[in-house]
Amino acid sequence: MVAEVMSTLAIDGGKPVRSEFLAFHRPNIGPAEEAEVIDALRSGWLTTGPKTKKFEREFADFVGAKHGVAVNSCTAALHVALLAAGVGAGDEVITSPITFASTANVIVHSGATPVFVDVEPATLNLDPAKLEAAITPRTKVIIPVHFAGHPCDMDEIKAIADKHKLTIIEDAAHSPDAHYRGKRIGSISPATCFSFYATKNITTGEGGMLTTDDPAFAEKCAILALHGISKDAWKRYSSSGYQHWDILDPGFKYNMFDLQAALGLVQLKRVDEFWTERKRQFEFYGKAFADLPEIILPVIRDYVKSSYHLYVIQVKTEELDIDRDTFMNALQAENIGIGIHFRAVHLHPFYKNTYGFAEGMFPNAEYASDRVISLPLYPGLPQADMELVAKAVHKLVQHYRANKKAR
Ligand SMILES: Cc1ncc(COP(=O)(O)O)c(C=O)c1O
Repeated sequence: MVAEVMSTLAIDGGKPVRSEFLAFHRPNIGPAEEAEVIDALRSGWLTTGPKTKKFEREFADFVGAKHGVAVNSCTAALHVALLAAGVGAGDEVITSPITFASTANVIVHSGATPVFVDVEPATLNLDPAKLEAAITPRTKVIIPVHFAGHPCDMDEIKAIADKHKLTIIEDAAHSPDAHYRGKRIGSISPATCFSFYATKNITTGEGGMLTTDDPAFAEKCAILALHGISKDAWKRYSSSGYQHWDILDPGFKYNMFDLQAALGLVQLKRVDEFWTERKRQFEFYGKAFADLPEIILPVIRDYVKSSYHLYVIQVKTEELDIDRDTFMNALQAENIGIGIHFRAVHLHPFYKNTYGFAEGMFPNAEYASDRVISLPLYPGLPQADMELVAKAVHKLVQHYRANKKAR
């Protein structure tokens, strides 16, 4: 659908497809968000207060969970969830190697050992068929990661978790508005952790939320997220007067504050508007790249509602005789911003050196790790820019295809 363009690549001195650099992501913040933040500023309550409490309630209702605990990142949510689930030294926690650093790092912070299970090639989600083989008597928790907003196969994962009496803590950083078999992500497992980082589907700049149906678990997480003390400022200084607090645990400074929640309250109202635009953009790319056999396109299973967080292509480097970084650098030279989600965690130096992970252990993750490139996809991205992204990808594929043939 995109016209043939056989021109010199910008990286080789040619004219870039876009005259100026296109950001990989731009947050969509409008006048309603500005007004709510100003309202928070003028309210006299800047730290965790009424807006945070309201956001917790509204977000939990939105995902269909009984409780929400607002924190300052998804990383924090994952960390307190692991601790509240009783994870500690000597335990093992299973997750996917195709995830962000923090999913694995918090396992280490909890004192446990990270164990990886390879991903399914189609969705790059943890492969339930490989899960059981990774379970040992020390396994305590499974952290499925809904990669790019596509929910994992939760029925299969839950069946295995139940059989082995393991807790599931979902990493839903990418999927605040996704469904699995009609159930909203956030309402399925004992704990689900969301991110409101600047590039996420809804943002509070930095921020996160844990949802759960268990009031005791929610309380434990809330206490751990605020120094381990028994009363947050909202309770300490409420109209009922100052109250003493006790240190129940050596907790963390992970609380969300009201300026963040002000953004979140408005962004949450816009979640359907954002989703509709993301879906349209996702489908545009699908059609635009359908004629490029050298590019693996993301797949959406018919039993999920994806949140379309990322559009991740995989460049079949073996067919173009180049590596991913060559393609990535050439695309950026065309002035197209990109992301890499993700280079497999087990191959990063800390994980290799500390736990002995090595190439060849998780072949599907490693295949993806060397090929993924995320293209710009966000509400507010102009159609004309999406067409330039498509044009740039075509330009590169045609160039490297021709180069290969000429060799
Ligand atoms: C899969 C995944 N998990 C966890 C996180 C951590 O989120 P946060 O930045 O809110 O801590 C991210 C952030 O990019 C992520 O992509």
